[in-house]
Amino acid sequence: MKPFPNVCYAIFLSAEVLTGRADQAGVAPTDPPIIQIATAHSALTLRAGDDGRLYELGYGRAEKNSSTTDRPPRESEFYPQYGDGFVWEPALQAAHVDGNTSTDLRYVREDSRTLGTNVTLTRIELKDSHYPFYVTLCLERFRNEDVIEQWVEIRHQEHGVVVLRHFASSAPVFNAREYWLTQFYGDWAREATMEEEKLGPGIKILDSKLGVRASRFRFPSFALSENGPAREDSGEVIGGSLAWSGSYQLAFDMDSDNHLRALCGINPSGEAVHLEPGRIFKTPAMLWTWSAHGAGRMTRNFDRWARRYGIRDGDQPRPVLLNNWEATGFNFDEKAIVSLFDGAQAIGADVFLLDDGWFGNAHPRNDDHAGLGDWQVNTNKLPRGLSYLAAQAGRRGVKFGIWIEPEMVNPRSDLFEKHPDWAIQQPHRPLELSRNQLDLDLSNPAVQQFVRRVVDEVFGTPGVSFVKWDCNRYVTQPGSTYLPPGRQSDLLIDYNLALYNIMARMAKKYPRTMAMLCSGGGGRADYGALKYFDEMWPSDNTDPLHRVFIQWGYSYFFPAEAVCDHITRSGNRPLKFAEDVAMSGALGVDMDLRKLPPAELEQLASAVALYKKEIRDVVEQGDLYRLRSPYEHPCAALDYVSADRSRAVLFVYQVKDGDDGSVRPRGLDPQARYRVREVNLPAGANSQLAGDGRVMDGVTLMRDGLRPPCHKPCDSAVIELVKGGAMALPSDESTRPSFR
Ligand code: DGJ
Repeated sequence: MKPFPNVCYAIFLSAEVLTGRADQAGVAPTDPPIIQIATAHSALTLRAGDDGRLYELGYGRAEKNSSTTDRPPRESEFYPQYGDGFVWEPALQAAHVDGNTSTDLRYVREDSRTLGTNVTLTRIELKDSHYPFYVTLCLERFRNEDVIEQWVEIRHQEHGVVVLRHFASSAPVFNAREYWLTQFYGDWAREATMEEEKLGPGIKILDSKLGVRASRFRFPSFALSENGPAREDSGEVIGGSLAWSGSYQLAFDMDSDNHLRALCGINPSGEAVHLEPGRIFKTPAMLWTWSAHGAGRMTRNFDRWARRYGIRDGDQPRPVLLNNWEATGFNFDEKAIVSLFDGAQAIGADVFLLDDGWFGNAHPRNDDHAGLGDWQVNTNKLPRGLSYLAAQAGRRGVKFGIWIEPEMVNPRSDLFEKHPDWAIQQPHRPLELSRNQLDLDLSNPAVQQFVRRVVDEVFGTPGVSFVKWDCNRYVTQPGSTYLPPGRQSDLLIDYNLALYNIMARMAKKYPRTMAMLCSGGGGRADYGALKYFDEMWPSDNTDPLHRVFIQWGYSYFFPAEAVCDHITRSGNRPLKFAEDVAMSGALGVDMDLRKLPPAELEQLASAVALYKKEIRDVVEQGDLYRLRSPYEHPCAALDYVSADRSRAVLFVYQVKDGDDGSVRPRGLDPQARYRVREVNLPAGANSQLAGDGRVMDGVTLMRDGLRPPCHKPCDSAVIELVKGGAMALPSDESTRPSFR
């Protein structure tokens, strides 16, 4: 497993980890420096003015960002603070121990360290002109991926507690003619719906106040296009993604001179940080990428960064799962589960994933009303336990995985009967249930210890090699019986920090156990949690027709290997369409294979075999090109191209009536010749693709395109393009990865 990025989540540290050099300073240097955080194609340029404040000169194309002004306008301060003359939306607001609500930060020094050939960390220290109050702006740049990660560390040595009321992770200013903002919103079963709008003067806020499962209604990620709506292959587009699973705020504040400040971080509404002297509050990381080649390059930058630094084992193939949730729900026993293993073996699944419903005895988990919190195997349903099931799966060459939801409790559980005070709740208010459950109060160390034990028991069960970590409700009554009255507003930040500690420990202690992040569908779509997981479950909506749109939205920020797409019978669509849609991500299956007619079982098995042998590595490790959007075209299309451009897979999905003509693949080597071959055809069917079997050069393919054999909704095609004409496929060895 790769080491996690150094620092990219909010946390409290002890002061010793910092150099402490800021203590000696607080005076503007005589020769204010220009600080440039440069990647292969972009640069963020800062300078300390002659007044000692830190200003931003620009973010984008490197050569654009220069200025001769010694003191740029106050509006372009890089990390603006509330009070003392600053009248716009602040990045930082602190109430000092004497009650002063203003902060006045001056540049002290900057220090850059190389953390490997591709990564450099720059720390810029600022200090209040009067108070012993220090802010370190941390900027980590990933050169080849054009990604800059920013977070902020705040500490002080005042005589008492400083209350932080605004504490953005990042707040850059942009300077363009127009700004077009794309957000990704939705709800359960309709995640990642895209909406683009032109920003006008004033503040536009995209946020979540849910505390937990916080991206249920909107992702903490956005695309910002300059001077016109975002295009796929041209124009300047900035991508932003906050690595935080709690409440967040992305505020876009445009002034009358057309400057746009993007304040991104934990949502200050209802949340505060009570910071004791000597402790360090570290904000979550904000990820930025800048592209001069439209939203397509923005995505490829994020994907390359994520595979290397943002998710667990990003260079490893994802297993094909067979899940039982759609097939059985809660209604199963040992015999039924074992009988599903044969199907897993028959279709070539790598892992069988036993979903919700396997636990609880006094309060059996037979539906969603009871059992959460009681993580003991239900002995009625599964008398020989989980390891027996794992062994049975293993006998068929299939690994075994299990579902948990360790942050939650049903009032009908042993856990709640014993510890009713462990649930998040507010005094004098009746408990408000959602899906009949409550959130556990992770700010309480006793609860943290309980959850750690649950994780150890589940991950430590012999035979368990995969875990799905679910989270099915958000917080509506943010109160803690553990925190004192004066610290209730810290609850949701403390919760998420504790959660990350538990997840980090899990990822480190169980490196061989794969893990899926899930939150009642896609309620946790962020790089804060994802870095501890191999993949995530994007939506409970598996109707492939809807899924084309959902996957399209996810594709902007997350690589295909991190997005689990399962073939199901939802929506009653043609099986081939369901397969073709799911194959453009991390493929899985969720159906009762015992009920499938033999011909369909065979079709499924050959789709899985094809995926593993010829498609998985290109989709999971290749560059994505979105060719035709389902929002704008009756026939959506995308292709993935391997890093050496020797292989590509083109997916075409007809989502409504209409003819869009030829699809032009992108990303190919123009000089090379590719053999065109339609794959995943039903047994005995011939391809209707004009050009099937032909060898064509890249330039012609990209100029003239291919006319897909799709005419009516739910028609689809998967087309392989293999360089050199011959089928230069990976060896059998590499298609049979040994999953941990
Ligand atoms: C919500 C998840 O999104 C589903 O896949 C399933 O695991 C259920 N929870 C189980 O309760």
